[in-house]
Amino acid sequence: MAIRVEDLRETLEQYGQEHVLRFWDNLTAEERGVLQESVATVDFPLMARLIDEWIHNEPSAEHFSCIDPVDVIPEPDMSHGDTVEAFETGEVRLAEGRVGVIMVAGGQGTRLGFDGPKGAYPVGSITGKSLFQYHAEKILNLERRYRCILPWYIMVSGANEAATREFFEANQYFGLGRENVYFFQQDMVPCVDEHGRFMLEEPCRLAKSPNGHGGCIPALAERGVIADCHARGIDTLTYFQVDNWAVQVADPVFIGYHVRQGSEMSSKVRRKTELREPVGVHCLCDGQYRLIEYSELDFYPQLLEVDARGNPVHFAGNPAMHVFSVPFIERVYANYQQFPWHRAHKKIPHVDSAGNYVRPDGPNGYKFETFIFDALQFVERAPVNLELRAMGEYTPIKQFEGAGSVLEARDHMRRHWGAWLVEAGAPVPKDAEGYPPFDVEISPAYALSKEEFVLKSHGRHWPAINGPIAIGAGGEISWAEANASA
Ligand code: UTP
Repeated sequence: MAIRVEDLRETLEQYGQEHVLRFWDNLTAEERGVLQESVATVDFPLMARLIDEWIHNEPSAEHFSCIDPVDVIPEPDMSHGDTVEAFETGEVRLAEGRVGVIMVAGGQGTRLGFDGPKGAYPVGSITGKSLFQYHAEKILNLERRYRCILPWYIMVSGANEAATREFFEANQYFGLGRENVYFFQQDMVPCVDEHGRFMLEEPCRLAKSPNGHGGCIPALAERGVIADCHARGIDTLTYFQVDNWAVQVADPVFIGYHVRQGSEMSSKVRRKTELREPVGVHCLCDGQYRLIEYSELDFYPQLLEVDARGNPVHFAGNPAMHVFSVPFIERVYANYQQFPWHRAHKKIPHVDSAGNYVRPDGPNGYKFETFIFDALQFVERAPVNLELRAMGEYTPIKQFEGAGSVLEARDHMRRHWGAWLVEAGAPVPKDAEGYPPFDVEISPAYALSKEEFVLKSHGRHWPAINGPIAIGAGGEISWAEANASA
């Protein structure tokens, strides 16, 4: 039932936001319904707190007397007993069906500027495969190998849920089974102007933005995911972001270290080689595990220390890959009132007081969000920090070209998968670095690692390969045929 406008007006007045109804008299009945709905879902006490803390007062950086680097387990190496033991533990957990996969895909993808959910972006240069498909193929491979179901929990936002669902429908859920793909929606929060006043996207709608990837904590609890985990006997959740094409989904080694250490929240870390690399770093701040964002580096001079070789002492960069225990997520949710929020100064298109649509040239307002890594502040047991493999785990896509781009991801595919072809003895030409000089794609459903690919290629008769080559889920070659001579 629609909330009465008198009640809305009263609430808005109480919080100094009555301007939201300024176009009310000119709205149609339908538009009024939209506005009522848009306002009714706002958490007013939370917004009042955020506006007070972040807009009416200038926030200051927290003070820590002591910031220590965290312990890091070096890059997995299967010739080391520890890695092998972790791998075996992770394999058992997967085979027991106790692992689920969370992927956050609720972001707005503004920098990429793609017309659709970011995960639908056709990143495969030869096959046009989407980010979603690459991730799905990795899950398929693991499900086959461990004879298990890996339920895939996908966080979406109100802005992209319908399009994401449609994409999965149109692609028959990539063979994973509709019942094992679970979409859950994160909340949106109002954007505010520089004075802390809610902004309107249209005369009948508040400008809102998703509440950040940390929004997955309440969303997991409130949208049935945790209940689904209990029903399926899942106690371990792996987490990654949709835009990292290269992620090792549900990596058994990572899961194994997490389980063996009895960790509640584990993180992969990416070694920072340059002090000013734009990445947050894991630290121990006055004994509490924290992630300090790169935008705050200058508040903490300790983070800019280097060792005798000139390398950063605080090198544990954050590539946004975690493993969580389900009881930990439940505990963080129970204490979510204490979860920190952040603000971002952004360009926010809006309708001004005269009813004109404004597309600002520079930042004109604030979005509020929470970050999943802040869950670290709630751990009671030391987290695992596991170093990423040097190649083939991290190539996030933020934009089309430049650093963190589609073009960079495609080049990584060429080198990552090209090296597998070379290792498997396929007759490919090589550039100065030893990689094929053209695009290469290998379906993760066929092979997840170089070892798996080489094993499956044993005894294979390769045609000569002179141009872009894609290897499909069954090992079949496509596209190379046009370029290949027998
Ligand atoms: P980013 O902060 O890089 O945002 O999110 P984005 O949406 O991909 O791109 P820009 O900044 O608008 O250009 C990193 C990951 O976190 C998810 C994104 O979908 C992406 O996988 N995310 C981010 C959410 O799921 N919800 C959010 O509210 C924010």
